[in-house]
Amino acid sequence: MARSIYIFDTTLRDGEQAPGCSMNLPEKIDVARRLEKLRVDVMEAGFPASSPGDLESVKAIAGIVKDSSVAGLCRSLEKDIDAAREALAPAVQPRVHIFLATSPVHMEYKLKMTPDQVLETTAAAVRYAKKFCSDIEFSAEDAFRSDPDFVCRVFGAAITAGAVTVNFPDTVGYAMTEEFGDRIRYIKEHTPGMDRARLSVHCHNDLGLAVANSLAAVRNGADQVECTINGLGERAGNASLEEIVMSLRVRKDLFDADTRIDAAQIYAASRLVTQVTGVKVQPNKAVVGENAFVHEAGIHQHGVLANRATYEIMTPESVGIPKNRAANRMVLGKHSGRHAFEERLKELGLQAEGPLLQQVFAQFKDLADKKKTVSDRDIEALVMGAVASVPETWTLDHWAVNTGSALGASGTIRLRYKDGQAKKMVMLGDGPVHAIFQAINRIIGKDPELELYEIGAITGDASAQGETMVKISWEGRRWNGRGISTDIIESSIKAYLAAINAMEWEFAAGAGQRTAAEGAAPL
Ligand code: KIV
Ligand code: ZN
Repeated sequence: MARSIYIFDTTLRDGEQAPGCSMNLPEKIDVARRLEKLRVDVMEAGFPASSPGDLESVKAIAGIVKDSSVAGLCRSLEKDIDAAREALAPAVQPRVHIFLATSPVHMEYKLKMTPDQVLETTAAAVRYAKKFCSDIEFSAEDAFRSDPDFVCRVFGAAITAGAVTVNFPDTVGYAMTEEFGDRIRYIKEHTPGMDRARLSVHCHNDLGLAVANSLAAVRNGADQVECTINGLGERAGNASLEEIVMSLRVRKDLFDADTRIDAAQIYAASRLVTQVTGVKVQPNKAVVGENAFVHEAGIHQHGVLANRATYEIMTPESVGIPKNRAANRMVLGKHSGRHAFEERLKELGLQAEGPLLQQVFAQFKDLADKKKTVSDRDIEALVMGAVASVPETWTLDHWAVNTGSALGASGTIRLRYKDGQAKKMVMLGDGPVHAIFQAINRIIGKDPELELYEIGAITGDASAQGETMVKISWEGRRWNGRGISTDIIESSIKAYLAAINAMEWEFAAGAGQRTAAEGAAPL
């Protein structure tokens, strides 16, 4: 019988930690629900001691997710473990994930600890956490650049103290595939008590080998793989969940191993993570990229028409990509009724019920009035745009711009505050978008930095909707916003306001501010 490999998803922790990938609470909850639907065994929901906001979001996720374990990351410090205890209290299946570095460079320069102190600290931290949680994972940070026998001793101490999973990270993505596989076999065979614990791996992608190394580890005895949706993560990212899961499934003959993941949920999870982080996947990305199942060359098209197996090793449907997705065909128009709309949502693997369905259907009707054809991509964008929003502090009443090569640009906007009061402003700018963003800043009385402004078209036709992504930062925190509209100025305004509303909401809730010391937590 095939071995079961555990999937530990860290999109909400290692993924969220990547520059520009921060998510607000409703977004994190949406992603957590998606991960549960995807059937990950464990989701790492955050690092509770790193900020009050992180603690609150881990707690909120712990209270919602039932079918996956929920993990909170901790340094080997009692105060971190206490924070995890508080955050994980509502969880049905809590996991405390403790880490401490074992490589010479980390021990000497970052921890300023001797190897013996690292051994003692590991055992003490695991023992402390074990008093309130049975499911303890211990990670030896920078394990690959550590002395293998020392890692075996540290893992042995962690297992004796009560760890039931020991994790071997290639924190800096340094390992070559064959040596990583050999190292995992060595650790498995030489760690005292390894028969009482699962061996996990956590690979970073600095040399583009995170997935290959994780798979080599599975072939050499690893029981759990840590990964993220779309390979999001620190620097070049973590191993990509979808690539690992589909490699194990497509090459079951070789691995004789599988996961419990519902692969048909992969595409929806990938799209959601793209939407909430604003980090797009490259078109040729394996499994979920725009072109992953597109056959351009005539000879390939001919082969696929005769038999898909000629050029496809898995079907788009197997990872939840709707049929004809690539063809981007027109599916619905302004005469389509609600029933047809709901049916199409189901076919696309999208979920919208109750008020959300009403809202999206109304938006679809508006769009169908403006555009001749409403494609699957348009519908997908409407649904994705409707989820995970925070309560709106500011709503858009109306706007106008004036621009031209001789006169420069001006922007007028009227916003409504949550108490119903309307505020209007006119500003000049270097272009219409700049002018209107300046006017918004003047109204809200803040001047956040615009770190990213990206505009694209959802479909390729002349009446395509514009999709704008923005990232703003203010007092060391970042927020994303996304807007869609058939008018690109309006999609820009919507995106900017979404980011502003996320910022206002977080400041009003008093959550999420990292203190300097906590923000500097060494990872
Ligand atoms: O990369 C790493 O070493 C980590 C650990 C905290 C597991 O993310
Ligand atoms: Zn990591």
